[in-house]
Amino acid sequence: MMGRAILPAFVLAFGCTRSSGDFWLVLGTEPGSGVRLSDAVVSPSGALVERRADARGVAFRLRTDKGPLRVSAPGGCPIVVEAPLQTPGFMERRVEPLFDLGPKLRVVGPEQRFELRAVERCDEAKRSRFEFRAPTDAPLDGLRIENGGRTLSAKTRGLDRLRRRPAWGIVPVSADRRSVTEITARVTLPKGEPLERTLEVAALARSSGLPSIAEGHPVLLAGSGFRLEKKPEGSRAELRTVGELTELVPDVRGDFELADAAGRKLVIQSGRYDEMPLDCGRSDCHSAIAASVGSSLMTRVLEADLGGRHPLERPECALACHATGEPGTSDGGFSHVMGELELATLPHDFVELPRALRRLGGVGCLACHGPARVPPDDAKWAVLRSDVCAVCHDAPPRYGHVVAFGTTNMALADRDSRTRERTECARCHTTWGSLGEPERRPPAEVGALGLGCVACHDIHDPSGSPPHAAPSGLRPALLRHPDVRAALPGAPPAADGASRVCIGCHAPGNGPLPEASAAAIWAGLGGVDPETGEALVGPEKHARNSLDASRGCLACHASGPPTLERGARHAFEAGSKSCLPCHREAPERRPEIAAAARALVGELLPSTRGRASTEPPHALPFVAALSPAKNRALRNALLVLEDPAADVHNLGYARRLLDASLKALGRNPVKQKAEARP
Ligand code: HEC
Ligand code: HEC
Ligand code: HEC
Ligand code: HEC
Ligand code: HEC
Ligand code: HEC
Ligand code: HEC
Repeated sequence: MMGRAILPAFVLAFGCTRSSGDFWLVLGTEPGSGVRLSDAVVSPSGALVERRADARGVAFRLRTDKGPLRVSAPGGCPIVVEAPLQTPGFMERRVEPLFDLGPKLRVVGPEQRFELRAVERCDEAKRSRFEFRAPTDAPLDGLRIENGGRTLSAKTRGLDRLRRRPAWGIVPVSADRRSVTEITARVTLPKGEPLERTLEVAALARSSGLPSIAEGHPVLLAGSGFRLEKKPEGSRAELRTVGELTELVPDVRGDFELADAAGRKLVIQSGRYDEMPLDCGRSDCHSAIAASVGSSLMTRVLEADLGGRHPLERPECALACHATGEPGTSDGGFSHVMGELELATLPHDFVELPRALRRLGGVGCLACHGPARVPPDDAKWAVLRSDVCAVCHDAPPRYGHVVAFGTTNMALADRDSRTRERTECARCHTTWGSLGEPERRPPAEVGALGLGCVACHDIHDPSGSPPHAAPSGLRPALLRHPDVRAALPGAPPAADGASRVCIGCHAPGNGPLPEASAAAIWAGLGGVDPETGEALVGPEKHARNSLDASRGCLACHASGPPTLERGARHAFEAGSKSCLPCHREAPERRPEIAAAARALVGELLPSTRGRASTEPPHALPFVAALSPAKNRALRNALLVLEDPAADVHNLGYARRLLDASLKALGRNPVKQKAEARP
């Protein structure tokens, strides 16, 4: 099998260099096996005619008339080639490491004992020293290394990296929260440098929080007094208590029905990734979705990897996120099936994968929707959580989108219960509300979830990932395509870039009084002349600047924790550094703008005084019964007050709105200070 992985390059290269009496021996080894193929030697040495090497292996041209040949590489068991070889003139062999350590990654469960053992594979292993090592701060208890370093046993911890109080139901576990220990296996040979391999022991399997789970995939439940009321035929699963949580390992396909102490039901459906039919795209079902997802970078990521876009240095790690399934479990996912097929390495080309693996290669439908049947209606909310994406996108510092977004108040936007209960508030404060899908409202006991990734990202973007009508230079990134002009009539072209996803929730809406208004202020829109009722439009210096107009909001809101390699921008911070591409120094903030707006609102609506400083006015229940001119003056003042950064977004427009309102009330304009110049 391994030959498929390394042959093509060599075969092409050797085709014409062989003469009769020679043959090519191509050696490969599993990536990360610790075997130093590049130092392989042949005995008797006279049999070697030529040697070649590339990143994946080494090849020898050998003479066939020298009797049995022995080829050995440091760290590997030697290979003996008995008979002289006839056609086709090359032979592929895999060099196995001296010690068999079992799978490279295993999921053992929280608070479970496990043992790793190094088993000698050949006599050469006897002449070398072997030692397991675990980091001193590993999340393990009772660590013992015995038998001269050849056995390691310990008990996992497992719950210490979880969120402190997980919401009721299935506990989501991101890539970062599995509580992984990297164990080093070190082989010291009689001569030469020691060789190292790494094994991973994870206490937890990742979980999206969806009640659709693979067979053999352990999940944790939050809630009290769970009992298993019904399980599928043949199941021997029992619940296990782990700290304050309960663990279930679905052991067969079917429905596991649970209830908590209060009688609340939870149905967990289990299936296998390799058994679930993938005809989701049948013409009568989801053909449009299947077609769109089919062309996304995510779905095709493994295909791109094997095509050489990413070097897969640690395939077992990449496969956890570039394919479907949970490595280290028997879930019928990519890594499990790869092991069952005894395929040790990946081929150069996706089409060379066995069919069973091709359907699991990439982030397929089941990677997000789970391997079981379509969920019941009352579980439809769960796929909207960021946890579905955190399964792969939460691996800081390298993949930091989840961590960065988690630092914003948007990730907490529904913490005020009014915003979850009232549909008019849910439009901006919840994911289901922003998608206009009230049927996906989570049950009350779940509590706050914050806005999720899919508030801005459309996984089933019909225009697919590669180029669609996005302004040049923007990566499409599966962003939604809301109608920005419906949300903000008259929006400037700068609103059409990647930050088009921001406009709807940051625009004042069409109600009698404005809601959150940052986008309107930035664009210089939404105000009215109190006396004439005419629209006040512009200035809009940031929305029209020539330097980076297509970035829109992201011209400034694009930074975050510096420790993250990717995704830091998802903190959407606009620190003072963000001004420097255009301004010599960061312009000062102008607190007098918000103060003037607050004073105006307080004067026109005395009932809001005091409260409007702790909550934005749009959260307060008030009705304005004012004259038309005063009502318009109020609208302008609210627009400014609803944008706590109006002085930065558009100082000129904020001032214009306030001055127009002050004038209508017979006041002096807001005091001027020196203008900022880029
Ligand atoms: C990267 C994760 C991801 C992948 C891959 C994915 N989906 Fe989805 N899917 C979602 C999310 C999140 C939602 C809900 C939000 C939305 O509709 O945009 C969803 C919604 C759906 C819905 C609407 C569900 C309902 O309950 O009404 C269907 C149908 C669907 N997906 C089918 C598919 C099919 C078929 C595939 C594979 C061709 C697929 N999805 C691949 C994440 C994914
Ligand atoms: C099974 C792992 C996995 C899951 C689950 C997953 N992703 Fe991804 N995602 C990836 C990988 C791998 C890539 C990198 C694709 C590439 O760069 O070729 C990616 C890329 C992306 C991109 C960039 C696409 C582009 O065109 O540039 C976005 C956006 C994204 N994911 C969002 C999401 C969201 C939102 C969810 C949850 C609904 C999600 N992902 C769930 C693995 C995953
Ligand atoms: C147009 C979108 C939108 C709508 C509709 C909306 N909000 Fe907001 N809300 C925002 C934005 C944006 C912010 C943050 C900006 C700010 O500080 O003003 C915010 C901030 C808040 C805050 C302060 C932060 C917090 O969560 O504690 C509260 C409270 C709030 N909104 C409650 C509500 C209530 C109640 C409703 C329904 C009556 C509602 N919102 C409707 C967009 C909206
Ligand atoms: C508030 C809107 C918003 C939310 C919520 C959001 N994203 Fe994004 N995402 C964007 C925008 C905008 C871009 C394009 C960034 C750019 O062009 O700078 C993007 C780009 C990406 C990319 C492509 C790579 C990159 O950084 O440019 C990935 C991957 C991604 N997002 C993942 C996620 C994940 C995972 C989540 C959930 C934790 C998430 N996003 C939540 C707006 C959002
Ligand atoms: C689905 C609606 C929605 C979308 C889309 C959205 N926002 Fe928000 N945003 C909110 C709400 C609601 C709040 C207020 C959260 C709170 O304080 O409770 C907010 C708050 C913010 C804040 C203040 C964050 C903080 O930590 O105080 C910034 C900055 C922001 N949004 C920028 C953006 C940008 C940039 C985009 C586009 C990439 C965007 N938003 C897209 C709804 C949204
Ligand atoms: C010229 C730079 C710039 C642009 C462009 C910009 N912002 Fe801001 N924004 C800022 C700064 C600076 C702050 C204040 C940040 C702080 O207090 O940390 C801010 C704050 C905010 C806040 C939070 C207010 C608060 O303190 O609660 C929201 C919401 C917001 N911006 C939304 C947007 C949206 C939506 C867009 C695009 C329509 C946008 N911004 C465009 C610079 C910008
Ligand atoms: C992409 C370029 C760009 C960035 C980034 C940028 N600005 Fe500006 N800013 C401009 C331009 C262009 C003007 C208009 C200058 C003029 O008309 O003389 C301007 C003007 C201003 C003004 C005066 C506005 C008025 O109405 O007179 C303020 C205040 C300001 N910027 C603040 C900021 C702050 C604070 C930041 C960083 C958070 C920032 N800007 C980031 C381009 C930018």
